[in-house]
Amino acid sequence: MTKKLFVKTYGCQMNVYDSERMAEALGGEGYEQVDSPEGADMILLNTCHIREKAAEKVYSELGRFRPLREANPDLKIGVAGCVAQAEGEEIMRRQPMVDLVVGPQTYHRLPKMVQALENGEKALDTDFPEEDKFAHLPKLRTSRGPTAFLTVQEGCDKFCSFCVVPYTRGAEVSRSAERLLGEARDLVERGVREITLLGQNVNAYHGAGADGAEWGLARLIREMAGIDGLERIRFTTSHPNDMDDDLIAAHADCDKLMPYLHLPVQAGSDKILKAMNRKHTRDDYIRLIERIRAVRPDLHLSGDFIVGFPGETEADFEQTLDLVRQVGYGTAYSFKYSARPGTPAMERDGQVTDAEASDRLQRLQGLLGEQQRATQDAMVGRHVRVLFEKPGREPGQMVGKSEYLHAVHVDGPAELRGQIAPVEIVESRTNSLRGRLI
Ligand code: SAH
Ligand code: SF4
Ligand code: F3S
Repeated sequence: MTKKLFVKTYGCQMNVYDSERMAEALGGEGYEQVDSPEGADMILLNTCHIREKAAEKVYSELGRFRPLREANPDLKIGVAGCVAQAEGEEIMRRQPMVDLVVGPQTYHRLPKMVQALENGEKALDTDFPEEDKFAHLPKLRTSRGPTAFLTVQEGCDKFCSFCVVPYTRGAEVSRSAERLLGEARDLVERGVREITLLGQNVNAYHGAGADGAEWGLARLIREMAGIDGLERIRFTTSHPNDMDDDLIAAHADCDKLMPYLHLPVQAGSDKILKAMNRKHTRDDYIRLIERIRAVRPDLHLSGDFIVGFPGETEADFEQTLDLVRQVGYGTAYSFKYSARPGTPAMERDGQVTDAEASDRLQRLQGLLGEQQRATQDAMVGRHVRVLFEKPGREPGQMVGKSEYLHAVHVDGPAELRGQIAPVEIVESRTNSLRGRLI
């Protein structure tokens, strides 16, 4: 009899990818994924530890499953991902309902852990094993939507002073290029047209190439672009210091690489960048952007920002605003600094008050919002190519993404799904564009 698995994912795209792989691993144990926790035999939360709010959400979410557990004592509850890695056993102490805790590097062992659960035991595994989990995961043959994520690199050696990722995901590891090309071909055979290469520091990729040499991300992208039927390649997230010449050049000469780049800078003041251990200056970043835009003038740039880092003065913050004005972003994500256990910044003096941080966040988001609006409005009248993914909310409508990752709605037939079609943008709406098939 098939059992029902409900997976809920928080955090970054790497968690989205991991959730898919965990569901596949549990598929081999007779679990079938369902869309709601009601009636499920197992609930798995794939969690994020990046900010306090994200981490605490796990416990409130677990509390909400209590009635389900009371109604069905056989219901298994598992916590995976970065909170699992960071807190381990503590999770079971705080929430005894939890049967299973599995970190991001050991979920290929889920089948064995699930067997323990079925024997009435609890299971916990937060190792950083030697073996490559991906090599131990089953390969699936089911058809896929037009877009997919593919993790090429994991972990981070950068140790920005505010960030938990080097602790929750471990050291930087790149997967072999040959395996990745194989996986990409499989995805394309299953219907995928666009692949987003993922890594906590994806442009630090340095995997073993098919020719025995070490390949950087640009080489991997160029080889992947040779796969027939794969139309688009994206990658995220990058660190400014790993943006090498070849990767910059690929933005000019690799047609399948899309003109959208997420390149976080975090702050605009050199003093704060140094305190964050970013190992680049404001000027390094600006010059890097200039170089990339010189070869790809229509690039849409995205970024991440943190306000209220310890020691950030009003003058430092104004330099962030100034950098944003100077660079210009198509989209951006901004956050209030959150002090995280085990990170160097947590111990620092000069913690900024919450009221001050909220005020800065509001001002920064105001400016970024204006830029996003202006970028989107400037698309009206332009011709883009849209990869259609699914039906829109209104009947007869289809939605897809432009090269620049804007969501575009058009009136068109369901057969458009999985196809790339030329579209003229006719209207800019709150969070999407409306277009007309050409
Ligand atoms: N490896 C990526 C993404 C890391 S997490 C990178 O280097 O860009 C995604 C974003 O969360 C970061 O870019 C940062 O802006 C934000 N972030 C990370 N730690 C944070 C913290 N302690 N408080 C607030 N925001 C944080
Ligand atoms: Fe975190 Fe910095 Fe690594 Fe990004 S580069 S994951 S922000 S430590
Ligand atoms: Fe969160 Fe872990 Fe991703 S902390 S952002 S889920 S790497």
